[in-house]
Amino acid sequence: MKFARNAQSLDASYIREILSAANQPEMISMAGGLPASSLLPVQLIRATCESLADNHHLFQYGSSQGYEPLIDTMKQQSQHSDKPWLICNGSQQALDLIARALLEAGDNIVAEVPAYLGALQVFQLTGATICPLNSDTAGPDLNQLEDYFKHHNVKLFYCVPDFHNPTGRVWPRETRIAVAQLCRDYDVTLIEDAPYRELRFAGEQLGYVSDLCPEISIRLTSFSKIGFPGLRVGAMNGPTAFITIAERIKQATDLHTGIPQQAIIHALLNHAEFEQHLTRLRRGYQERYQCLSRELTQQLGDQIQFDTVEGGMFVWLKLTQGDSAEIAARALQHNLAVVPGAAFYPTDTALENHALRLNFSNTDPALFPEAVARLAKAL
Ligand SMILES: Cc1ncc(COP(=O)(O)O)c(C=O)c1O
Repeated sequence: MKFARNAQSLDASYIREILSAANQPEMISMAGGLPASSLLPVQLIRATCESLADNHHLFQYGSSQGYEPLIDTMKQQSQHSDKPWLICNGSQQALDLIARALLEAGDNIVAEVPAYLGALQVFQLTGATICPLNSDTAGPDLNQLEDYFKHHNVKLFYCVPDFHNPTGRVWPRETRIAVAQLCRDYDVTLIEDAPYRELRFAGEQLGYVSDLCPEISIRLTSFSKIGFPGLRVGAMNGPTAFITIAERIKQATDLHTGIPQQAIIHALLNHAEFEQHLTRLRRGYQERYQCLSRELTQQLGDQIQFDTVEGGMFVWLKLTQGDSAEIAARALQHNLAVVPGAAFYPTDTALENHALRLNFSNTDPALFPEAVARLAKAL
């Protein structure tokens, strides 16, 4: 079989390999980006699931744009935008549709690095070149961003301004305004990926960057982190001309996202106790984060450094010495799964090999003392 060149360039995901090791019984896994199984809102969808079989219409073919009641809910919730919605198989499919609609081999795109691996892979599959953008707690380096926009004919800028994966960072308000302005000035499409936004457990919620430049932005929403990742439902919102093309591509790809799972997400979002569920989820993650952060400070002291996070699922742990890939491999031998920083960089990019991504949402808080003790052994 002769594989396409771009398909061959896709490496087996390092994270997938770690996750398969993470299933062993003695392992404590802080590797995946999984929500807490114990906090999945199954009680809120029980009645809907039980009555699914009585609703034959949910099992017919449906519209490519999505299940109408769910689209109506999305419209009601996006008060600042009258742009159309497209329901997708997770926000991961939205990334794929964006790549197919906008990118051609040789195009330049900008992404903050480190970056969400799934986005890098989708963009790399098109043959686009990723211009790596440095960022810190104040958000992306604006001079570097403008330099890319000015000199590299950039087609799109992919970003995760709220509780970034893997760093957990949030862009401050001034950065949001400046980035929106730059995208406008240079006519670059902004892709705002916001799966963790609702998981804020401290600090102040800031506005969407895409609301500051609506005519050139696309926003991605996921129901995986506040609902159920296994249902594979997400959504994107963008200018009409873009959503029209993306819907046609979706139709050619898979006709539409499964209706029963869209009906379940619709029921979840409209459940009288949905807000209470979000509050419980945020509290649960805050407790996990505080517990992890306390153990890291007490047990590892000056061997590590990390910035406080106000939500999301991740801590980006900087090691004062040692190679993080080696330490992650050693941690696996001590039955602890974590992801080394190098996994979050595009190929051929200078990378951070002194950082680890720790997920805190999917670990029982009682296990953090032992998890950090195992990391201490690996260090
Ligand atoms: C930043 C980011 N975008 C998109 C996704 C994909 O999420 P979904 O389950 O909605 O496809 C993830 C998953 O972890 C993510 O971290």
